[in-house]
Amino acid sequence: MKRILSGIQPSGQLHIGNYFGMMKSMIANMEQSDLYVFIVDLHALTSVHDRNKLAAGTLDAAADFLALGLDPDKCTFWVQSDVPEVCELAWVLSNVTSMGLLERCHSYKDKTAKGIAASHGLFAYPVLMAADILLYQADMVPVGKDQKQHLEVARDIAVSFNNTFGETFILPEAMISGETAIVPGLDGQKMSKSYGNTIPIFLEDKELRKRVMAVQTDSTPVEEPKDPDKCNLYALLKLFAAPEKLAEVRNLYINGGAAYGYLKQDLFELIRDCYAEARTRRKELRANEDWLRQILKQGAEKARAKAAVTLDLVRGRAGLRY
Ligand code: ADP
Ligand code: TRP
Repeated sequence: MKRILSGIQPSGQLHIGNYFGMMKSMIANMEQSDLYVFIVDLHALTSVHDRNKLAAGTLDAAADFLALGLDPDKCTFWVQSDVPEVCELAWVLSNVTSMGLLERCHSYKDKTAKGIAASHGLFAYPVLMAADILLYQADMVPVGKDQKQHLEVARDIAVSFNNTFGETFILPEAMISGETAIVPGLDGQKMSKSYGNTIPIFLEDKELRKRVMAVQTDSTPVEEPKDPDKCNLYALLKLFAAPEKLAEVRNLYINGGAAYGYLKQDLFELIRDCYAEARTRRKELRANEDWLRQILKQGAEKARAKAAVTLDLVRGRAGLRY
């Protein structure tokens, strides 16, 4: 059975980009894989320096995943910082990671350009991410396209360790679903918590409608033909509309008659209905913090047992046992 692993930062409300980029395929793979899902609070520290926000965000993310259908009995589900072994592995890996490899990472450049402080943590982020993946010897890692380079870095680091100290790590593969590789945000850029352009999964109706109405569109008059494949609103509709509905909308774009206001109302209703049941479940789960903590602690115990095996191997290979 393949081991599939992925993590998500608790740095803000989870949004539909996270859902289609990663959460959906994780949940879909629950039955036929050895699934590892975790909330990467140590990574979120690179951008969140408010303890209440980070701690609440971690429980929020846990409730989100469970409400969307992740079953903790069918996977290993935990919080990254509950397995501190990952930090030790990250340090060891740092010593077989060249500066050039990290200097080439787009994500660091993009984030600092957006105003996130250029800390050592942000620079070394991909090494901790490699440690996340290699510690559990994952085969496949479902992520959005924005994380593709980080996966390549993880493989490069694994190769470098294997060449230096002997065959130790499995080389992980990125799993990127073509259609939803990059979900656009309200402004047409990649939807991201750090860009403030998201549609969170679990907004209340009024807020959700407001967000959807803020999807940016051009000023082409209703009657004129438009290119659906260049339209942000259409890209979002494509994620939620049934094939017949989408064909109808596509026709309106191509032949004229696509009224953005109406289409936004359709999109709002589709998103609202898609997550209606999960929204109710999430409210109940989020209100039960002790239960959430218990689930996460149990998951951490399972993850730690696996982590200990890899770390023991690594210590021996690197000469950290005497
Ligand atoms: P954010 O950019 O909002 O902070 P994260 O970095 O926490 O999101 O991403 C969590 C997962 O969701 C990753 O696998 C990432 O690739 C995926 N993801 C995030 N935004 C998008 C998007 N707009 N489209 C597709 N996948 C995305
Ligand atoms: N860097 C990823 C993101 O921002 C989150 C992450 C951290 C991750 N560690 C991971 C994803 C390990 C997959 C595997 O989306």
